[in-house]
Amino acid sequence: HMAEKGGYKHFMLKEIFEQPRAVRDTIAGRLREEQGDVYLEDLSLDDAALRGINRICIIACGTSWHAALVGKFLIEEHCRVPVEVDIASEFRYRNPVVDEKTLVMLISQSGETADTLAAMRESKRRGGKCVAICNVVDSSIAREADGVIYTHAGPEIGVASTKAFVTQLIALYLFTIRLGRSREVMSLEQGRDLIAAVVRVPALMEEALKLNEQVEKVARNYLQARDFLYLGRGMNYPIALEGALKLKEISYIHAEGYAAGEMKHGPIALIDEHMPVVVLVPKGPNYDKVFSNMEEVIARGGRVIAVCSEGDQEVKDKVEVALEIPEDGCDVNPLILSIPMQLLAYHVAVLKGTDVDQPRNLAKSVTVE
Ligand code: G6P
Repeated sequence: HMAEKGGYKHFMLKEIFEQPRAVRDTIAGRLREEQGDVYLEDLSLDDAALRGINRICIIACGTSWHAALVGKFLIEEHCRVPVEVDIASEFRYRNPVVDEKTLVMLISQSGETADTLAAMRESKRRGGKCVAICNVVDSSIAREADGVIYTHAGPEIGVASTKAFVTQLIALYLFTIRLGRSREVMSLEQGRDLIAAVVRVPALMEEALKLNEQVEKVARNYLQARDFLYLGRGMNYPIALEGALKLKEISYIHAEGYAAGEMKHGPIALIDEHMPVVVLVPKGPNYDKVFSNMEEVIARGGRVIAVCSEGDQEVKDKVEVALEIPEDGCDVNPLILSIPMQLLAYHVAVLKGTDVDQPRNLAKSVTVE
């Protein structure tokens, strides 16, 4: 099986390393750099339709739900349209508020998740316009949606989603640019800047993948931990949730993601010298806030694994481990931070000897309720 894994030990590792390519394929042919805009061939919503929306609901499960949370941040920040995010199994049974002016976005790698499909059918019944972000062409969700933004991650075999997740994020960046430009809340200049940031992602990911060996060494020192805490703020908060989910899924170590500012309302009670705390502290908005949350963890003896911007000596001086990601403004940090999150979960799981590609009790696609 080494051959189909391209020489990698597991599909998951192969898929982690395929991410720069997956991102390139997902943006290919879609950028209109001159106009500071993007072209989404199957979106099926013209400028007038996009201007008619007054609210967006993004619905998904699992890792795709974490992408949705980043989407809320992006759309609200750049397009000033209110966005709600919900878990499909909650949304579908909640008598949700959806009408003709609501855009409902469904995010699903497989396009077959039963709860997400049911949430879409319910939304359509209530008159909402439905756009799916899907990786599988002609899947049920893609077929039934009014419009689709396909991700081009290629087939994902590992149960723990990696390359599908980062391409979902890219699709959300592209949609944000399209929506912002159609509603004229985003200037030509802002559109061009965001496109330029997206274009730099594959190279930044290639840089971040060089962390692989360091992360493997780090993983060795944390195998015995019973619990992990992951902290982040703003658009990196969902990446903390995703980092914790990846670790749970494949290493079976209990892990919790938390908004760093919320730590004082509970998880801080758990911190002692046995508790590894992954702190996402790249340069960007909230940097000072997260930095002081990190100091609070250190003051209580927590073992900090910081993920920071390259050359951030202030962070490096304080922590047990610093994983440095390439510094490039902060617009695309969620994508770059995802890589050390995936690698950490992967190496901990491999060292613990779990079945990384087929973790117990989990399915790649959950097509029954
Ligand atoms: C399962 C998979 C997850 C995935 C979730 C949603 O739980 O193990 O990796 O995130 O389903 O799947 P979808 O195909 O709808 O994105």
